[in-house]
Amino acid sequence: MSRSSILVTGAGGLLGRRVVEQAARRYRLFRQYHSAPKDELHGTIFVGDLADRNHIRTIAETVHPEIIIHCAALADVDRCEREPELSRHINVEAVRYLTEAFPEAVFVQLSTDYVFPGGAPPPEPSVPTRPLNVYGRHKLEAENVARAAANHLIIRTATLLDWLGRRNVFQPLYEPLRAGREIFCLTDQSSNPLAASDAAGLVLALIEKGARGVFHIGGTELVSRYELAVKLAEYFNFNPALVRPMTSESIRRDAARPSPAGLDCRATELFLGKRMPTLQETFAVIARDIVGSA
Ligand SMILES: NC(=O)c1ccc[n+]([C@@H]2O[C@H](COP(=O)([O-])OP(=O)(O)OC[C@H]3O[C@@H](n4cnc5c(N)ncnc54)[C@H](OP(=O)(O)O)[C@@H]3O)[C@@H](O)[C@H]2O)c1
Repeated sequence: MSRSSILVTGAGGLLGRRVVEQAARRYRLFRQYHSAPKDELHGTIFVGDLADRNHIRTIAETVHPEIIIHCAALADVDRCEREPELSRHINVEAVRYLTEAFPEAVFVQLSTDYVFPGGAPPPEPSVPTRPLNVYGRHKLEAENVARAAANHLIIRTATLLDWLGRRNVFQPLYEPLRAGREIFCLTDQSSNPLAASDAAGLVLALIEKGARGVFHIGGTELVSRYELAVKLAEYFNFNPALVRPMTSESIRRDAARPSPAGLDCRATELFLGKRMPTLQETFAVIARDIVGSA
């Protein structure tokens, strides 16, 4: 039986890298990068700017993927606030170009809990959206563009944790605590984080079960950054007293954040017949990566 073909955009990003790792064994894989990857270069690879329609045309003239997992994004929330035009090009227009260039493909749009304004309890997929910042507004616009694709799957994910990767929440907590240094963490910024590799597994599981429409993925526990750091310290046998509380009033950031953020993932659990990962399981997954990369 021939394997389905998948194009993964943002293949070098936090999530894209993990999707590639897991999909490589099961699918015919085409990878798209913004900057050329430094590692192994076998397989079909495209390097370019997805905000450039010509780059997407070149891909469409070369390959005909049955599924597109669109992980590429400008996910730096403060940068999106400062550079809204850039954010629109990457976060919205690229989605339009891709869905137009590949009308037959199943289009999987990665989205975010930042399409919501925050507040307890975490929202289910049917709760009305109301983003607070440019990033959230553009990711919501992108969802609406993706909805126009005949076969679309929108997956909103909560905060992703990983051992490697830029803009990673985990390492800036782990490294100083391991070195015995004090860190200050926000008590008023929360989410239900999950490991990027678990998120990749859930994305592929949703695709393989034929999911269409909007789904939420995230960990089982809603924690502030402060609670996350304390639990991380406890799990890895660092000193939790090194984690000191602070609030977002004491730092200057360009974009407002939903507080608390996070997502209700029960509908996804029901659909897949499995529960989301606990924080302990998330740390265990990342711990294996740390050992593996040593
Ligand atoms: N990380 C989180 O906590 C989180 C939470 C909620 C939702 N999400 C969503 O999950 C998805 C994956 O995010 P992520 O954390 O993997 O982000 P990431 O690590 O920043 O990766 C994004 C990827 O997009 C690429 N990219 C940026 N601009 C591009 C352009 N103009 N053309 C082509 N590629 C471009 C980047 O390449 P370069 O690095 O080479 O520029 C990078 O590889 C995104 O849709 C994001 O909105 C993430």
